[in-house]
Amino acid sequence: MAAEKPVRALVVKEHGPIENVALSDIPDPRPGRAAVLIDVRAASVNFPDLLVIGGTYQNLPPRPFVPGKDLAGVVAAVGEGVTLVKAGDRVMAQIEHGAYAERCVVPEQNCSVMPAGMSYAEGAAMGLAYLTAHFALVERAGCRAGETVLVTGAAGGVGLAAVQVAKALGATVVAAVSSAEKAAVAKTSGADHVVRTDVPDLRETFRTQVFDAVGKRGVDIVIDPVGGNVFDASLRAVGWCGRIVIVGFAEGRVPEIKTGLVLVKNIALIGLQVSDYRDREPAKVRRVLAELFAWYQQGKVKPHVMARFPLHEHRAALAAVRDRRVVGKVVLVMRD
Ligand SMILES: NC(=O)c1ccc[n+]([C@@H]2O[C@H](COP(=O)([O-])OP(=O)(O)OC[C@H]3O[C@@H](n4cnc5c(N)ncnc54)[C@H](OP(=O)(O)O)[C@@H]3O)[C@@H](O)[C@H]2O)c1
Repeated sequence: MAAEKPVRALVVKEHGPIENVALSDIPDPRPGRAAVLIDVRAASVNFPDLLVIGGTYQNLPPRPFVPGKDLAGVVAAVGEGVTLVKAGDRVMAQIEHGAYAERCVVPEQNCSVMPAGMSYAEGAAMGLAYLTAHFALVERAGCRAGETVLVTGAAGGVGLAAVQVAKALGATVVAAVSSAEKAAVAKTSGADHVVRTDVPDLRETFRTQVFDAVGKRGVDIVIDPVGGNVFDASLRAVGWCGRIVIVGFAEGRVPEIKTGLVLVKNIALIGLQVSDYRDREPAKVRRVLAELFAWYQQGKVKPHVMARFPLHEHRAALAAVRDRRVVGKVVLVMRD
């Protein structure tokens, strides 16, 4: 019998800085019932991966583990009872961890066949970020055409996806970013207005910038993956009956909210944890992906893959996210 070929993967033995992630061989996984074995071609890096590696995320796998939530590749084999995909299909998938590997097993319910013309890097970049953006805008905020949407961290993975998804929904988009380079990317992705967070007295000047863009009524919706001071400033820029979707805290501080302002402006504060939809409502997630794929084919959304790194250059990829240098997404490429 031929010897099994080891699978190269990035492995975390102990939580800590990104230097704790090491390239290792892992056993070739086998798909069980309702599961699919994928030859991974690309896995995207998401900010939450750093929290998982660091040990500060809400869901932590037992150690040692392979990080990574977003992948695209080719179905190598299917387990018993699989009906949604077949061997040879080009798929993308979202999982809790395990994507930073040459092969990985995922539940079939979390796989979607990619549209023709979409590269593996784009497929991997399209998963978590675009699902988060879509669920934040549609499922949680009920975004309607003609509304105004403020997106913070608008050149990041979730942020840039939210800019594109909001435009696809017919909204007017105000993109909040921290540099001229990030402003240019947000504009190219369709933002109608750009406001800057790298300004003195953010609390006052942020609202002034937003009002200059959309008028004193303020914005209808805020999609906030940043938290901290940017959230505090955004709370003052939202209009009467506005909705704020709390997506993340990339800035590091979980904001504490002045509920008086929430009351007098009839604001709705709405949470989102998209992985719950992945696990509780996988069919809905696949329907949302089908809509995103249709928009991709119509040219309405397109993942901005800033850089591709081979697996052995994973530290450079992770450092780009850690150091706030990413515009759009960085992707680990096993084979493109
Ligand atoms: N709720 C969910 O289901 C869900 C799903 C996915 C991600 N998330 C969360 O959403 C957030 C964004 O994730 P992402 O993958 O889009 O991250 P990302 O690509 O790294 O983007 C994060 C953005 O946050 C801004 N930022 C402000 N302070 C920062 C800091 N100290 N370090 C890094 N970035 C900072 C940056 O924009 P500027 O430089 O322009 O300020 C950056 O572009 C994270 O908190 C993540 O955990 C939540």
